[in-house]
Amino acid sequence: MTRRESILKEMGLAPLWRLRERPELVSPLAPLARRGEGGEGQRQDHPHPGPLPPAGEETRKQRIAALGWDGLKAAVADCRDCRLCEQRKQAVLGVGDVDADWLFVGEGPGAEEDERGEPFVGQAGQLLDAMLAAIGLQRGRKVYIGNVVKCRPPGNRTPEADETAACFPYLQRQIELIRPKLIVALGKPAAETLLDTEVKVGASRGRLFDYRGIPLIVTYHPAYLLRSLPEKAKAWEDLCLARRTMKELNDVAR
Ligand code: URA
Ligand code: SF4
Repeated sequence: MTRRESILKEMGLAPLWRLRERPELVSPLAPLARRGEGGEGQRQDHPHPGPLPPAGEETRKQRIAALGWDGLKAAVADCRDCRLCEQRKQAVLGVGDVDADWLFVGEGPGAEEDERGEPFVGQAGQLLDAMLAAIGLQRGRKVYIGNVVKCRPPGNRTPEADETAACFPYLQRQIELIRPKLIVALGKPAAETLLDTEVKVGASRGRLFDYRGIPLIVTYHPAYLLRSLPEKAKAWEDLCLARRTMKELNDVAR
């Protein structure tokens, strides 16, 4: 057991650290099969060329996995690899400190983000900024903010599974470049994409999950909190857990 793991165990968080060793938490269905149902009829109306064959997809993932920040910015700005490219004004890669300790991951750009090219600048973003401030954080200072899809889903609908799958290599590369100490998944699409399993946010709060060795906390999306004020108290608890976890991780590193 590493020192970090033993600290987490002392915090009573270790059993959940190993999500993939708990088969009962892992959906037997791949994300595409699980959430892609019922969209086929709609999809045929789109001129977009559909998913790449497996070999092409592998090459694409490898190409993205080798990009630096400039390459990522350019690739995302020009990307047409899912149907969300069709109605976007611009793709929104993310914002913040490329050496961030904290990574917050939302769902996808809304109207204002699509307009301005920065994540979380609308109403939900104001709440996110307030949530960050509540735990002594500020956008851009050891904090990076991104989304699971980089292009605005029309009408702010939830991104579909094939869209999050197409866009995920970009987020994976961002995480590799940033190497955050802690990831906070804001809402279900972010949590499901990062953990590659079905997630119920309410049931996943208060636990520490694992994204490739990086602790990950799941909480409500700020847009949901705007509609459901009682859940704000729970989000506050989640942020306190996040802050406590970061403190422990920093103590271990000393
Ligand atoms: N909601 C999100 O999930 N992301 C944004 O960038 C804005 C609103
Ligand atoms: Fe490309 Fe992602 Fe935009 Fe889809 S959402 S077009 S994969 S950048």
